[in-house]
Amino acid sequence: MKINKIYFSMISLLFFLFGSSNLFAESNSGGRQIEAIIELMVALTILVVAVVLWLALVYSEKNDLEGSTLLQPLKNMIHNLTKSTPVSEESKILLDHDYDGIRELDNKIPPWFSFIFAGTILFAIAYMINYHVIGSGNVQEEEYAAEVREAALQKKMLSASGALIDEETVTFVDDPASLSEGKNIFTKNCAACHGKKGEGLVGPNLTDDYWIHGNRINDLFKTVKYGVVAKGMPTWGKQLSPTQIQEVTSYILTLHGTNPPNAKAPQGKLYEYKKPGAKTEKAGSEQEEVKKNI
Ligand code: HEC
Repeated sequence: MKINKIYFSMISLLFFLFGSSNLFAESNSGGRQIEAIIELMVALTILVVAVVLWLALVYSEKNDLEGSTLLQPLKNMIHNLTKSTPVSEESKILLDHDYDGIRELDNKIPPWFSFIFAGTILFAIAYMINYHVIGSGNVQEEEYAAEVREAALQKKMLSASGALIDEETVTFVDDPASLSEGKNIFTKNCAACHGKKGEGLVGPNLTDDYWIHGNRINDLFKTVKYGVVAKGMPTWGKQLSPTQIQEVTSYILTLHGTNPPNAKAPQGKLYEYKKPGAKTEKAGSEQEEVKKNI
């Protein structure tokens, strides 16, 4: 009885360790490192407990050959799991027939085996009901669809935050809010060199058909983001967000042909003017491209 209590308290200790480590992990969501350290400590504790247990068993076997004290509960447990017949009683279960000197024992099916066998059947029933009858579990296809939905949502969030806009993907925006924000950015950061109305001062005129680096929104975005430092055009990629650069370059494109007073003489090459398309739904056009590629 006493010995049983010792085993019981050891097992409870293990459960307690596992339980407390989980509690700690939850209150520290985000602290992945702490979680890992605790798991390591728990594993080490289990190892130490196992070694101590093993030493106790070896010691007791040496000093008590029958193992009637410390080993008895373990022996009982193993016997209950296997229901094996001791070698001394094997003659009782020996079958009559004889295959060229090979004889057979009529052993009972060990309970551990029956448990697992019955367990797999129960699991299969529960699985079938869960996934195919009630349908509360996600089958592979649904899991895939859920992941795709999640990725689409993430993409939507990213593009809403402007993180997906770069010189390749940028599109002209023409909603009044974006354009007035673009105007603010221009007045604050650009007018000093390009003139209040984009007529050009130190920097070139941004209202005519002559451009040094191209007249598509992608070209403007690239020039603004990276700058042309050697020629006196600063790099704006660090100060302005992609969305802000999109807004200010869109605003610049709306200045086309405004003929402001004191316009600076043309610089660069003559570019054919194309009215910038108001393509704000980028996701749609991208999807069509993907379809075409398939
Ligand atoms: C310190 C002065 C200065 C400031 C401030 C400045 N620019 Fe410029 N910018 C220039 C110069 C100089 C050039 C010409 C670069 C070259 O010759 O390659 C230029 C070129 C450009 C071009 C390309 C023009 C072309 O013909 O291809 C764009 C677009 C432009 N700037 C936009 C902006 C925007 C938007 C801002 C504000 C966010 C800004 N610039 C602020 C000096 C400036």
